[in-house]
Amino acid sequence: MKVLMIGDIVGRAGRRAVRELLPVIKEEYEIDFVIANGENAAGGFGLTEAVVENLTDYGIDLLTTGNHTWDNKDIFEFINKTTRVIRPYNYPTQVPGVGIKIIEKEYLSLGVINLIGRVYLGDYNCPFRSLDQAVEKVVDKVDGIVVDFHAEATSEKEALGWYADGKVGAVVGTHTHVQTADERVLPHNTAYMTDLGMTGAIDSILGMNIDEPLERFLTQMPQRFKVATGDTQLCGLMVDIDDKTGKAKKVKRITRIHKLNS
Ligand code: FE2
Repeated sequence: MKVLMIGDIVGRAGRRAVRELLPVIKEEYEIDFVIANGENAAGGFGLTEAVVENLTDYGIDLLTTGNHTWDNKDIFEFINKTTRVIRPYNYPTQVPGVGIKIIEKEYLSLGVINLIGRVYLGDYNCPFRSLDQAVEKVVDKVDGIVVDFHAEATSEKEALGWYADGKVGAVVGTHTHVQTADERVLPHNTAYMTDLGMTGAIDSILGMNIDEPLERFLTQMPQRFKVATGDTQLCGLMVDIDDKTGKAKKVKRITRIHKLNS
């Protein structure tokens, strides 16, 4: 089965990239499941129910999140009823929402696990032990498992990749918004990539308008960030998983560009 994992969608520009580019990629690679990190999809911060609906209409099956899960208060209204959004599994147990989801299409089923890193991000439960717990919950019920590890430190992401090798079909990183070129299948057949990259405006700082973050670096004064506009990119990874064994067969790094006036 072919799973497309899309890097952090930032605001309206990111949603436009998904709308324009995803149908083409889906057809080209005969994609069965599409997972995307959506924690910055609504105005750059968090998610609204309308944005979740939009992205579902554009072809995304499930949205993962991370440190910006709660940035838009809308999510408190729908996180417990939506089937389209998960939050990191290694949050404290009383936190609303779920961190694992099984999605099904025809005769295929895929387990998706969302985890968040601790280095520079927060005092969450151990992502390594949490991975084991989450895998145990779904492994007997699915044809394959993929993990979105939303984390800052490259070292923590690589460590989780090696820890998960042979246990899941794929571990991909999100959060840094800059795509890495280290995609591979590890020795025990887990696909790995440190960061999927960002889906949004190309001329930007992490998808946001350049002026405000630049001004903040220059002056150390707080600034209100806006989502950047213009030409966009969609970044991600296609993972081909053997649905008999759950092991990754191959990966293909994806970067597509949509020009506004084309
Ligand atoms: Fe993030």
